[in-house]
Amino acid sequence: MRVLWLFLIVGSMAQKDMDRNIFFFPKRSVNDYVLLTPTMTGSLNKFTVCLRSYAQHGHSALFIVGNPESKIHNMFVVYQSSLTYSQPYFDSSIYINNSQVCITAKADVLQSIHRCVTWDSDTGVLQHWVNGKVSPLAVLQRGFSIDLQDGISLGQMRRNGATGWNFTASFQGEISDVHMWNSVLSPETIGKVLLNNINGNVISWRSLSYTIKGDVIVQPKLY
Ligand SMILES: *[C@@H]1O[C@H](CO)[C@@H](O)[C@H](O)[C@H]1NC(C)=O
Ligand SMILES: *[C@@H]1O[C@H](CO)[C@@H](O)[C@H](O)[C@H]1NC(C)=O
Repeated sequence: MRVLWLFLIVGSMAQKDMDRNIFFFPKRSVNDYVLLTPTMTGSLNKFTVCLRSYAQHGHSALFIVGNPESKIHNMFVVYQSSLTYSQPYFDSSIYINNSQVCITAKADVLQSIHRCVTWDSDTGVLQHWVNGKVSPLAVLQRGFSIDLQDGISLGQMRRNGATGWNFTASFQGEISDVHMWNSVLSPETIGKVLLNNINGNVISWRSLSYTIKGDVIVQPKLY
């Protein structure tokens, strides 16, 4: 019985080289997201997260540490807060421990956007890189540390004061090239990530353990 149970758990969780693929979120819905299993659990006091996104809507959450029931809400979130097709600037909101900073960046919104965020608890300093260019530094939640025990989710963020995802932040579009490290990468290394030449040691897109919840479709990468 125990062997069968283990088999079922393993069977429902794919581990894949996603190099030529993307996750496609066809509609905005709190039922649709992807749960990632990091290679390590426990708490991190510094990290780098990189990913590529191609959003259909301005307001949407890309990446969150935790799941719909995690005790600490919005432990770490990458959120794209506005995106207008008439101008090349957009805002990212980064949340740590449910506190937020807003960072303006420039990118062509009709192409996929590559982002990296680094954070160091000792100083609270946060770097935000878009297509290889760094935005002005920000500071957030010095002394906090993030906990990976509930995993990582793509395409959603939490509702305030309740369990479950916040519908206004549900993602529609494409997410790919998700990597995470337990360190602050150097600018040179972030350049290599942009060229797709290096894999994360906490999350690696080239050996990804994930579970699709709801309607998210794995598709070939077209760019
Ligand atoms: C995290 O947020 C909680 C709730 O707002 C707060 O009590 C706690 O002090 C914060 N932790 C740190 C290290 O700032
Ligand atoms: C949902 O997210 C939006 C956009 O970030 C925010 O303004 C709103 O307060 C959030 N609502 C809840 C219930 O968390």
